[in-house]
Parts: sequence; structure tokens; C-alpha cells
Amino acid sequence: METANLTGRTVLVTGAGSGIGRETALLCAARGADLVVCDVDDAGLAEVEAAARARGRSVLARHVDVADREAMRAFSQEVEAQIGAVDLLVNNAGVGLAAGFLDTELEDWDWIVSINILGVVHGCHFFLPPMVARGSGHVVNLASMAGYFANPALVAYSATKFAVLGLSEGLRDELHTAGISVTAICPGIINTPITRNSRARGAADDPAARERFVKLYQRRNYGPERVAVNILKAVERDRGVAPVAPEAWVGYGLKRLSPRLTGWVSRRIAAAAENKE
Ligand SMILES: NC(=O)c1ccc[n+]([C@@H]2O[C@H](COP(=O)([O-])OP(=O)(O)OC[C@H]3O[C@@H](n4cnc5c(N)ncnc54)[C@H](O)[C@@H]3O)[C@@H](O)[C@H]2O)c1
Repeated sequence: METANLTGRTVLVTGAGSGIGRETALLCAARGADLVVCDVDDAGLAEVEAAARARGRSVLARHVDVADREAMRAFSQEVEAQIGAVDLLVNNAGVGLAAGFLDTELEDWDWIVSINILGVVHGCHFFLPPMVARGSGHVVNLASMAGYFANPALVAYSATKFAVLGLSEGLRDELHTAGISVTAICPGIINTPITRNSRARGAADDPAARERFVKLYQRRNYGPERVAVNILKAVERDRGVAPVAPEAWVGYGLKRLSPRLTGWVSRRIAAAAENKE
């Protein structure tokens, strides 16, 4: 799909009220797209809606929890009735959980799986059929560098992002004759409010550890607006998997070169983040 000029296109972004979702929605609006956006953060969503409307775009903004199957069903029915099939579906909404496996509660698994995996499943399940019926469109799923480079300090998060990557790769192959393309985005270390919003357990559940985590992302200083530009570039180039920041590319190459070395590097990174070394 050509993304330099999105006039006449409709782009749907979940979790559009903050970070990568916000910047992607606003970049699409700046390039001419009309928007369908949802979030559970009403204030963030209202800001994005107002900014896109100020550019003259039409915006359908709804409070929808991507984990809530019936809410997603109703949202998709409303979108189909008003707009029909969207052109670009960005399953972006996601949450973080800083914890090793032994510190992760079963309730944490329910929570993160329901948003990071089932939220993406719901987006695809409800919004893809009209796209398939029309025979065109592109799906972007926000995976992560942790979707191929498992991190011992983010075990459940990594597991959900491996799932998003697997879903995206399978879906891409399934739909390649249907005129629909699929891209998994693997951003890297991106400075967004996710560092403050993530749940934390065990050693990570401590204000000093949280500050270290936030500072690490701030020092890295790779903003969500750069991810948004790369998302549209990946759609234009029709990439199946798109690492974004340099560390995501390095991790991607390293995993292919030597899975054993990848494990060693992951442990070193987790230890450094915990300030053990
Ligand atoms: N920031 C990073 O370093 C990074 C790296 C890799 C992948 N990602 C992924 O990118 C996506 C966006 O992350 P971000 O960094 O912009 O985070 P963020 O916290 O800034 O934004 C996430 C948005 O999703 C919304 N959201 C959360 N749960 C929701 C739900 N159940 N239903 C609807 N909306 C919901 C939040 O309210 C928020 O507005 C996530 O899937 C995340 O896992 C982020």
C-alpha cells in the first residue's frame, strides 16, 4: 500500500491515546487518512481525535477495551455500518509486565494475554472479514523485539509478543492470495509512557527499579514518532517482520546467527537493568 499520501484511506488504530499508537494515528492523519481510533484512556483519545479533526480529517473515536470481545464486536459493527472495510488496521494496544516467570501471578497472565494476544486476535477477527471481502488492505500488529529476543525480566510480555509475531507470520501467509498483507512491527527500546504504565513484580516492583527502567528508555531517546514513520515505511515496502530501532535489528540478526549467544546477551541486559552488574 502506498503510504506517502493516504487521502481517501481509513486507518484504524487501537490504543491510539498514547505513544506509538498516538503518533501513528496522527502521522496517518497528517498524510490525509481518516481515522478510526479506540483506547481505554479517554483523555488521550480525545486529544488525538481533536488533533486529527483540526487537520480536517473525519474521526470515529470510541472507548473500547481490546480485551473485551463483545465491545470489539460492537465497535466493528459500528465501523462496518458507517465506513465499511478499513484500509489499514493497526493492532497497537498493548501493556507491559516487568517480571520473571517466578514472580508472575496467574492473574497477571490472564491480564496480559487478554490484551496483548487476544486484543490482536479480536482486532483481526472482527475487522479483517470486510477487508477480505473487498480484497484489499494491510494489517499491522505491534509485536516487539521481545517477540524474537526473549527477555528473562519480561517473561510473560515476551511470550505474548512471540505469539503476536507467530500470528502475524501465519496470517500473512494465509492471506497472501486474498489481497491482504500483514506486517509485524518490532520497535526496540522506545521512550513512551509504557515505562510508567507497565505492571511490575518481584525485584522490578520497587520505585527505584521503576525509575531505572524509565531512565533507561529516556536515555535511549528513541521516540514513538520515529516508530510511526517506520511503520508506514514497512507497510509501503510490504515487510513481513519489521525491526525498527538499531537494537531491534541487532537482536534480529543475532538471533539468526546464534540463539545461544542471544540467551547470554538477554541475561546480561536483564542483569544490567536490575543494576546487578
Ligand atoms: N515502548 C516500547 O519500547 C515498545 C517496544 C516494543 C513494542 N511496543 C508495543 O507497542 C504498543 C504500544 O506501546 P507504547 O509504548 O506506545 O505504550 P503506551 O502505554 O504509550 O500506549 C499504549 C496505549 O494502549 C492503550 N491500551 C492499553 N490497554 C488497552 C486495552 N485493553 N484496550 C484499548 N487500549 C488499551 C493505553 O491506554 C495506551 O493509550 C504495545 O503493543 C507495546 O507492547 C512498545
